[in-house]
Amino acid sequence: MTIARNALLRMSKSHWLADRVMTRGFAKKAVKKFMPGEELSDALDASATIGRDQLGSVLTKLGENLTAQSEADAVRDHYLGAFDQIKLRRLNAHVSVKPTQLGLDFSQSGCAEHLEVLAQKAESTGTYLWLDMEDSSYVDRTLELYRGLRGRHEKVGLAMQAYLRRTPADLTQLLYTRPTVRLVKGAYAEPPHIAFPAKRDVDLAYYDLAVELLNAAAKGQALPIFGTHDMVLIDRLVTKAAAIGVPDGGYEVHMLYGIRMAEQRALAAKGRTVKTLISYGSSWFPWYMRRLAERPANVWFVVKSMLAG
Ligand code: FDA
Repeated sequence: MTIARNALLRMSKSHWLADRVMTRGFAKKAVKKFMPGEELSDALDASATIGRDQLGSVLTKLGENLTAQSEADAVRDHYLGAFDQIKLRRLNAHVSVKPTQLGLDFSQSGCAEHLEVLAQKAESTGTYLWLDMEDSSYVDRTLELYRGLRGRHEKVGLAMQAYLRRTPADLTQLLYTRPTVRLVKGAYAEPPHIAFPAKRDVDLAYYDLAVELLNAAAKGQALPIFGTHDMVLIDRLVTKAAAIGVPDGGYEVHMLYGIRMAEQRALAAKGRTVKTLISYGSSWFPWYMRRLAERPANVWFVVKSMLAG
């Protein structure tokens, strides 16, 4: 399983492969399992549809590691428009961005300026801005960007990855900011000295970090978001939250569009706060390969789409 995961994650970085796969009909068909369409309007429509089942949304435009300032400016402007649309359509939707989508590779200060504009817009439109966490080379810079934003804004959240050996220390240091943290297992290829290679260790680390967040939530010092499809883990954490007196709205569960939708609806029906992260955009290749790597059995779905023509 690890071999398949690593191979798929290596492939996710291949521009050669991306160019060959992204135009193929079977690939476009397979990718639809995880995204409603390539346009913002597709994501907004999907948000409205799932909203009828009490599911909130987090919208994110695909694309990462941009290389020109003008591209980063265009992404910022795109998200400003997305916030306006969310407000206009009265959707229960947040926005999540990748720092490299806002130019972190070539200017941390430029990226910080874009994030500041977006955080202000999130506040003025009554919603929330999220920072995704990318590979380990970006963690220090992303934490710094988040701390800067959090000093000025309430409605900003950060993804943190349980597979990283450093995350317990990072979380302890961040707690003084009363953060909103989307705890995820971690989706990138990392060497063993940086991230736990065994899934069992990642799951154990996730539970410990989640409990630390719940303890902070019980004192009003954090808003934990469990970004996982691991239902066993979620059940344990829901039980733990009740045991230490964190109310239903004191934490949330977020999952990805197209994965465990029935469970998402069932959790929401039971009174949990659940949001679905909806991706859209044309630069889906690396993101889609990470989804395949999370569950290599998904590759069979691609093969079936290919055979069906
Ligand atoms: P795990 O891998 O243990 O899966 C539990 C079960 O869920 C599986 O047995 C399977 O049934 C189902 N499942 C999981 N992934 C699936 C898939 N792709 N297809 C079909 N079924 C699947 N990562 C990161 O590094 N930075 C980030 O910012 C984010 N952001 C983020 C936001 C949200 C809302 C979610 C849900 C996830 C992320 N991730 C992420 C991805 C995350 O790190 C992780 O790779 C995936 O969530 C898969 O791990 P699970 O926690 O679901 O557990």
